Amino acid sequence: MTPLLEVEGVDAHHGDLQALFGVSLAVEEGRTVAVIGANGAGKSTLLAVVAGALPATSGTVRFAGADVAGVPGHRRVDEGITLVPEGRRLFPSLSVEENLLVGAFRNRPGPWTLERVYDLFPLLRPLAARAAGTLSGGEQQAVAIGRGLMSNPRLLLLDEVSLGLAPLVVQQLYAALGTIVESGCTVVVVEQDVGQALGVADQVWCLLEGRVSLSGVPADLEAEAVTRAYFGVLADRPGEGSSAQPADVSLAAAAAILPGTAVVDDAVDAGTTADGPVGTVPGVAGASGSAAGADAGQG
Ligand SMILES: Nc1ncnc2c1ncn2[C@@H]1O[C@H](COP(=O)(O)OP(=O)(O)OP(=O)(O)O)[C@@H](O)[C@H]1O
Ligand SMILES: [Mg+2]
Repeated sequence: MTPLLEVEGVDAHHGDLQALFGVSLAVEEGRTVAVIGANGAGKSTLLAVVAGALPATSGTVRFAGADVAGVPGHRRVDEGITLVPEGRRLFPSLSVEENLLVGAFRNRPGPWTLERVYDLFPLLRPLAARAAGTLSGGEQQAVAIGRGLMSNPRLLLLDEVSLGLAPLVVQQLYAALGTIVESGCTVVVVEQDVGQALGVADQVWCLLEGRVSLSGVPADLEAEAVTRAYFGVLADRPGEGSSAQPADVSLAAAAAILPGTAVVDDAVDAGTTADGPVGTVPGVAGASGSAAGADAGQG
């Protein structure tokens, strides 16, 4: 079966700065895939390339088997690729409902309507007439996801769903993902909170300094392998640094440390700020993140 999304050997630049180096990944239709990685790893850049907001400087992006190079972002929305960007980017003076309707302007057929979005996020119903700029962060994130759904995507790209939100809100947003996937939508979620990502994803890809440092099925991933891929210590042996190939992650065990329930609390306890991790992989409760991070610094 052809994957819905195939990214092959993609390089991408912001001006002179190269942000992606030969990134390859594949996403099968109907799956939920997480892309994790520290600040500046290239996660948003990867989503921008897939959504057509930034051209790849080399490599190929195929959607439903077709090369989408040269297809501008709005045409990709027509074809079913929708990005819910980092920072939500709502129209603050427009109402919640108007923001949702903006998502439907390409008129792609599909299951998502205002009613279904309100069913998915009942908290938005009484806020329909409120200016989006007056909402809480969690409410705004729900509007942003709802607006994305109104375009009836085949592939929904969610950038930093949980960043800066309270644990309960994050739980509610992630609970909605199940319904979204059941509607037939394929989801790629970018997360700094690894526990959260591994809890929902069928497959996870870790980026490190613009390269894929690890990929695998969450249940097969060892905490230490994740920590290394996240921080850049792919092997204890000298000479195997951060530009190594994806680590072999077919290691058993470790499932116990993965999806925590209070991941955001863990992250806060571990010294994580809204700006990102400080030495510990956010959401990997009980992992030796700090120690591994310190080891990384010492080679
Ligand atoms: N518009 C831009 N102009 C110049 N450099 C950029 C731009 N956007 C990103 N970069 C750089 O590209 C690299 C990758 O950034 P990117 O935003 O993709 O990372 P990220 O993994 O999404 O990080 P974060 O978790 O902080 O959102 C970083 O070095 C960043 O500084
Ligand atoms: Mg980002």
